[in-house]
Amino acid sequence: MRSHFQLVLTLVASLAASAGWSETLGDPVKGAKVFKKCQSCHQVGEGAKNRVGPHLNGIFGSKAGSDPTAKYSKGLIRAGDDGLVWTHETLDAFIENPKALVSKTRMSFRGIKGADDRLDLLAYLRGFSDEPSNIPEAEPTAQGNYHNLDPAILAIVGDSEYGEYLASECMTCHQTSGANDGIPGINGWPTEDFVVAMHAYKQKLRPHPVMQMMAGRLSDEEIAALAAYFKDLE
Ligand code: HEC
Ligand code: HEC
Repeated sequence: MRSHFQLVLTLVASLAASAGWSETLGDPVKGAKVFKKCQSCHQVGEGAKNRVGPHLNGIFGSKAGSDPTAKYSKGLIRAGDDGLVWTHETLDAFIENPKALVSKTRMSFRGIKGADDRLDLLAYLRGFSDEPSNIPEAEPTAQGNYHNLDPAILAIVGDSEYGEYLASECMTCHQTSGANDGIPGINGWPTEDFVVAMHAYKQKLRPHPVMQMMAGRLSDEEIAALAAYFKDLE
C-alpha cells in the first residue's frame, strides 16, 4: 500500500507540474495532515479497521453506507439506497457539512470549512482507493460547483412570513409536530444547514428524487424564506 501510495504522490506531482493543475488538484501531503481531524474515528491504509466510523480505503466510487461490517445510521443507508455514491463532489459536500448532506448522520463532526483543506484531504484519500489515477477530479456530469456555493446565497436574509406561506406544501410530508415515519423532522434547523441541504438537493448532490424536485422549483430567496420560517419552529 505504501509504495503504491508513493507512486500516486509522484504521479500527482508530475501531473500538477506538467498541466499546471496545481490549482485544481489537492496536495496529498498536506491532506495527510488534514486527515488528523478524522483519525479519532477513521483509519485508512494497510490494516485499517472500522472504529467509530468505517475505514476509508476504497471510498471513492463506493455506494454510501455499503460496508457490511460497519455500523451506519438509517439516514446514510437510505441515502446509499437512493443512489448516493462517494465521488469527489459528494465527499467534498459531506466533509464540509455532514448533516446537510446525509439526514441525521451518526458522524458528529462539524465539517471542514476551508475548500483548499478539503481538496488536499481528498487528494490524500484518493491514494487509498483503487486505481486513483482513474478517479476524475470532478465528475463530467457534475451539476454545479457545490463547494463554491455562492456566499451571497447564504447571506440572503429570508422573509419568514413568506416562508410560512411556502411551507404549507412541505407540511404534507414534514408534519408540524415534527413527528415522522421515515420522513425526517426539519423544525429548528440552523439556517445555514437548511439552506445548504436544500441546495444539495437542488444540485442533485443529495439523491432523494422528491426532494430534488421540490428544491429544484424554489428560488434562492424562497429557500432562504423557508429556512427562516423552519428555524423558529419547535
Ligand atoms: C467523531 C467521529 C468522526 C469524525 C471525527 C469523522 N467521522 Fe466520518 N464517520 C463517522 C461515523 C460514525 C460515520 C458513519 C455515519 C453514519 O452512519 O451516518 C462516518 C462516515 C463517514 C463516511 C461515509 C462512509 C461510508 O462507508 O459511506 C465518510 C466518507 C467519512 N465519514 C469521512 C470522514 C472524513 C474525511 C473525516 C475527517 C474530515 C471524518 N469522516 C471525520 C465518524 C466520524
Ligand atoms: C412528498 C413528501 C415531501 C415533501 C412534499 C417535502 N419533503 Fe422534504 N423530505 C422528504 C423526505 C422523504 C426526506 C428525506 C430524504 C433524504 O434522506 O435525503 C426529506 C428531507 C428534507 C430535508 C433534509 C432533512 C434531513 O434530515 O437531512 C429538508 C431540509 C427538507 N426535506 C425540506 C423540505 C421543504 C422545505 C419542503 C417544501 C418546500 C419539503 N421538504 C417537502 C419528503 C418530502
